[in-house]
Amino acid sequence: MHVHVITIFPRLIEGFLSAGIPRIAVEKGALTVEAVDLREFTQDAHRTVDDRPFGGGPGMVMLCAPIFAAVDHLDRQHGPAHRVLLTPHGRRLDQRKLRELAELDRLQLLCGHYEGIDERVRNGIDWDEVSIGDYVLSGGEVAAMVLVDGIARLLPGVVGDPASTVSESFEAGVLEAPHYTRPREFRGMPVPEVLLSGDHQAIARWREEEALKITKERRADLLLARAAMTWASAGAEGKPWIE
Ligand code: 6GU
Repeated sequence: MHVHVITIFPRLIEGFLSAGIPRIAVEKGALTVEAVDLREFTQDAHRTVDDRPFGGGPGMVMLCAPIFAAVDHLDRQHGPAHRVLLTPHGRRLDQRKLRELAELDRLQLLCGHYEGIDERVRNGIDWDEVSIGDYVLSGGEVAAMVLVDGIARLLPGVVGDPASTVSESFEAGVLEAPHYTRPREFRGMPVPEVLLSGDHQAIARWREEEALKITKERRADLLLARAAMTWASAGAEGKPWIE
């Protein structure tokens, strides 16, 4: 997977890749990430990337010319890529979307900023618009790194045990059961007996129960979504609301 991140803060992106799973993905050759400095695609002495909005109002708007120039340059240099615009206006990122993106060969990520981006960037270039949640960040860089991190750990050969990306939270539609490691007792808090029993069936059952319990407590919406999917795939008989 080759990722180009078009940004006004290229150093932010470079720092992020120096640790953890993203770094491992790069070292193993599964991932390349290149920060593309939007200011390199400006024409004026001040390397301007934004201006005041036509019609007035607060804040600044990202200029279209540097963005079109950066995208044209990347297309010419590297060929076609799937383009993702990171903006709160996008569709909310989830694990399914990460899996979908992890299948692709080339990504161009554009990090939005200021009050917004000139609308002609949206109209003149085909973007997959992605948001990482219902809140507002000062820029798309952190969101782009969320995307890269989530993708890096899904790339073949990056995470040691592929099972650890499958059994985890959200893939199964529920949160994960609690984990414990040494010591067996810490400050009066013991590890649940069943995990020390060696009874793999009992352990699997316990984990399933705990996963459901914590999901019900904290994210009942995940259970509802999972139930809806189950009903939908069960046919009309399984849809109690269609009568
Ligand atoms: Cl992708 N960008 C910004 N600026 N804010 C966000 C976001 C993205 N996703 C959620 N909030």
